Order: sequence, then structure tokens, then C-alpha cells
Amino acid sequence: MALSLNAAKKLLIFLGKSLLALLKSVVFAFIPKSRKNIAGETILITGSGSGLGRLLALKFAQLGSVVVLWDINQEGNEETCRMVRETGASRVYAYTCDCSRREEVYRVADQVKREVGDVSILVNNAGIVTGKKFLNCPDELMEKSFDVNFKAHLWTYKAFLPAMIAKKHGHLVCISSSAGLVGVNGLADYCASKFAAFGFAESVFVETFVQQQKGIKTTIVCPFFIKTGMFEGCTTGCPLLLPILEPEYAARKILDGILQEKLYVYIPRSLYLIMFFKSILPLRMLLLMADYLGIFYSMDNFSGPKKKD
Ligand SMILES: NC(=O)c1ccc[n+]([C@@H]2O[C@H](COP(=O)([O-])OP(=O)(O)OC[C@H]3O[C@@H](n4cnc5c(N)ncnc54)[C@H](O)[C@@H]3O)[C@@H](O)[C@H]2O)c1
Repeated sequence: MALSLNAAKKLLIFLGKSLLALLKSVVFAFIPKSRKNIAGETILITGSGSGLGRLLALKFAQLGSVVVLWDINQEGNEETCRMVRETGASRVYAYTCDCSRREEVYRVADQVKREVGDVSILVNNAGIVTGKKFLNCPDELMEKSFDVNFKAHLWTYKAFLPAMIAKKHGHLVCISSSAGLVGVNGLADYCASKFAAFGFAESVFVETFVQQQKGIKTTIVCPFFIKTGMFEGCTTGCPLLLPILEPEYAARKILDGILQEKLYVYIPRSLYLIMFFKSILPLRMLLLMADYLGIFYSMDNFSGPKKKD
């Protein structure tokens, strides 16, 4: 009897807290959450030598953050550094780093800690795509996809998370993809690496939650195709529901999500609906929907990452 009373009490507390959480999220769906101030924060962005990484660097710098740029492409990264300086920001630091190499990540991370200080916001953005059908994809390329798109996240977390925990202050940002939510024809290795990045970031979030490390935030970003050149030639069968995104729009949405400390940022918002359908619809209907949205054929005209000017 005592046990069932305890169980009833536990259930009531759970229901009460859940109701409160639901009410809060309904209210915040209409009133935008306040944005945090990131002036003076030290933000490290991997893959900052072009595309999204570059746009995010410019946006963070405009908000007064100290920006640390990492890219394997020294020229592109220095160009980003110059562009950030042109905005008037003085605290911007560029490092050449191949994030797929664990030892290199640790070495350059130590250099950053000595020369700039601890990183408080880590944006794991560096990414590559092979865009080949699974059986046509050389083993080394598939391994590289994992090394850059997923395993690099392990090494950067190992390097920067301990100081965030010690200071009870930090934010981990994972740039995954809509291909980290649903499997895509012609993107098996990329999807697998993005699912892995998503699962890893979500799991560490759960770890920090269970350990009540309230100062450590996580944001997991899943955008559909963006016109950065990475997915040159890719198409959408339904531009209304799944438009190919402008880089500036995607970067602004990502920044908003980070500043509002959202856990999940899916762009466009229709991806939330697609994920809901994915979990409830019968398989046959799902396949019809994917066919209608052109998801099966989106990679048919993929021509490989566009060469940067
Ligand atoms: N473009 C899209 O359609 C799209 C959609 C969803 C998610 N994403 C993801 O967004 C992120 C940014 O992509 P983007 O569109 O800006 O592409 P991009 O090619 O312009 O940027 C990727 C950057 O990562 C760098 N990079 C690659 N390998 C690296 C390594 N080993 N070490 C360090 N840096 C490395 C590249 O030099 C490049 O500057 C990627 O993770 C990508 O998977 C892109």
C-alpha cells in the first residue's frame, strides 16, 4: 500500500511538472524567448573558411564575441578572418586545423587555450560530402566522412568541454543536417555521419542534464539543402514545403536558435512536421510522401562541392 501511495505521488508530480512544461512551451511558441548576450564570449567555429561557418563567424563578431576560426583550408580561413576584421572586430584568430585528425585537434586546441583562452561556445560545423551511392563509394571516402562530420566532434568536445563544466558555462553547437534525421538516396555515408553527430550531441546533452550541469547548453542544427555550393546540383521536389535555403537565411536561423538556447533547430520548420509524420505514418504512406517531396531524387544531379573562387 505504501509503495502504491509513493507511486501515485510520483505520478502526480510527473503529471504536474509535465503540464507546466507544456504550458510554458505553448506560451513561448507565441512569445519569442529572450536572446542571450554573447558579447565577450569566445566562440570557436570549425569549417569557418567558407559557407555557413564564415557567415556565422561574421554574425558572432558583430555581436561582440571573440571569434576563433578553424579550417583545413588556410586561404579560405584567412579570408574569413580578414572579412571579420573589416566589420571592426579585433579579437579574431585563425588557425589551420584538420579536424579529422585527433592529435591535430588536441594540439591546436591547446594552442588556442594558451593564446586566446577557454572556448565558451563550440560550433562543430566543418563538413564534407562524397555524394556517391553506397557500393560506389571508396572505403577511404566513407571513413573520411565519419572523421570530419562526426569523429571531429568527439575530439573537440574532449578538448573544450572540461573547461565549460569547470566554469559552469558553455554552449555546444552541432551542425548536423536534415540528412541526420532521414535517410537519403545517394547519401548513405553522409547521412550515417550526420545521424552519428546528432546522436552524440543529444547524448552528451542528456549527460549534462542528468548531472544537472545547467550552465552547459546544447543546440543541434538540422538544415535542408543550403546554397553554399556543398550540394551543388541538388534539387527539391517541393520548393514550397522544402525550399533550398539561402545561406544568409540559414545562418540567421542558426544564430537565433543559439541565442535562444534551443536544443533543436530544424530549417525549414516543415522538417518538424516531416519528423512527426515519420514516427506515426504507415511506411507505404511515408514512401509516397518522400516520392512526392522529391526526396528520392534530390541527389540525381549532384555535381560535387562547387570549387570556391
Ligand atoms: N550546404 C548544405 O546544403 C548543408 C545542409 C545541411 C547541413 N550542412 C552542413 O553545414 C556545415 C557547413 O557546410 P557548408 O554548406 O557551409 O559547406 P562548405 O563546404 O562551404 O563548408 C565546409 C567547411 O568545412 C571545411 N572542412 C572540410 N574538411 C575539414 C577538415 N577536415 N577540417 C577542418 N575543416 C574542414 C571546408 O574547408 C569548408 O570551409 C557542414 O557540416 C554541412 O554538412 C550543409
